[in-house]
Amino acid sequence: MRISVIRKAHFNAAHRLYNPNWSDEKNAEVFGLCNNPFFHGHNYELEVKVSGEVDPDTGYVIDMKILSDLIKAEIENRFDHKNLNLQVEEFKNLIPTAEHICWVIWGILRSKLPDNLDLGIRLYETPRNYVEYGF
Ligand code: NI
Repeated sequence: MRISVIRKAHFNAAHRLYNPNWSDEKNAEVFGLCNNPFFHGHNYELEVKVSGEVDPDTGYVIDMKILSDLIKAEIENRFDHKNLNLQVEEFKNLIPTAEHICWVIWGILRSKLPDNLDLGIRLYETPRNYVEYGF
């Protein structure tokens, strides 16, 4: 029996969308408000979906305590109340769009989960805009 479990999490972070290969004018035109040179913040809502066979001994796909501790240690502690451009290594050379943040989170958690579990990430940048990878 294959089941998915989903854990929700949250972090606040600041970013600026800026492509260093473009002029300031083109950056402003393409990225609009998210190009603000003084940065701005978002309240990111995260959904982490883990899918796999239910363990007959525990009845779990994954212990939710283990999953929530993993998200706290690897994602919230790394991103919460940070400036993504300036303080998070992964975005030194990667524009911190919701797409890229979602993909980075997937990569971090994928490396920490057993291979027999599938992983999906859904990331809300605003209540009405979200992206997903592997979900
Ligand atoms: Ni933004």
